[in-house]
Amino acid sequence: MQVVHTAAELRAALAGQTGTAFMPTMGNLHAGHVSLIELAKRHGGPVVASIFVNPLQFGAGEDFERYPRTLQADCEKLAAAGCELVFAPDLAELYPVPQTFTVQPPGSLANDLCGAFRPGHFSGVATVVLKLFNLVQPRVAVFGKKDFQQLFVIRELVRQFNLPIEIVAGATLRDADGLALSSRNAYLGDSERIQAAQLQRELAAIVASVQAGERDFEALAASAVRRLKMAGWRVDYVALRDAETLQVPTPASPQLVALGAAWLGNTRLIDNIEAALGNPA
Ligand code: PAJ
Repeated sequence: MQVVHTAAELRAALAGQTGTAFMPTMGNLHAGHVSLIELAKRHGGPVVASIFVNPLQFGAGEDFERYPRTLQADCEKLAAAGCELVFAPDLAELYPVPQTFTVQPPGSLANDLCGAFRPGHFSGVATVVLKLFNLVQPRVAVFGKKDFQQLFVIRELVRQFNLPIEIVAGATLRDADGLALSSRNAYLGDSERIQAAQLQRELAAIVASVQAGERDFEALAASAVRRLKMAGWRVDYVALRDAETLQVPTPASPQLVALGAAWLGNTRLIDNIEAALGNPA
């Protein structure tokens, strides 16, 4: 596996390659990331991963500085998973001049759910992903459903800018207690780590109620928020949405998704669970 740090080295390494499958990351890789590399490998072409902690998607006071940077260990995991090429630029390489041209997702998306609590986040994500797509020029790009709203933003980016890239979504990998794997789980103390799986349990309870025929989505979300708060979480949101549009569900929505974001101490966790709507009758 080759590791390159500059756009010029990347271009040279990619010369003559076609059908590349790309997986962008911010590093500190875990088994969830590795599962996406394995998914990328199924597309036949060479697999390229990027590792870059993107300041544009972090707000003031967020964890940009303390985000774990573990390039050596990450490269070992990527090599073991069968990744062919890693692009790990530094800040000056990816942003040689201030990034004054940016991608602005519509407010209805950028200011919704996580965007309501992280102003500018999805603009930062869309901007860096567009840059990375232009550098790597992949045929396929792989993203995790763990970041459900991010996946939606990327799909719209690709659709609305006519990017010739197929977006492939990977399932969320979880620990044995159901906690979604995340680089940010490393911030959790021991008792927080035990408590952390509650977010996923609340989302699963909402999904079970919906599948049993309950349709008062706001009441379901509100009681999940209440239980989380009682257990000591600071809740950004819990919501039920149409999984295809990310809008408030209609009676015709075939697939829903329960999404949540909440804090344990200084750690912000997000998760989501999809639910096919059975016919309650
Ligand atoms: P990062 O958080 O490193 O995640 C990289 C990819 O791994 C994303 O597509 C994310 O959805 C996926 N992922 C994270 N946890 C996962 C899990 N438990 N199971 C399966 N997949 C998981 O997301 C980002 O980086 C950045 O925003 C990025 C797209 C790289 C732009 O900077």
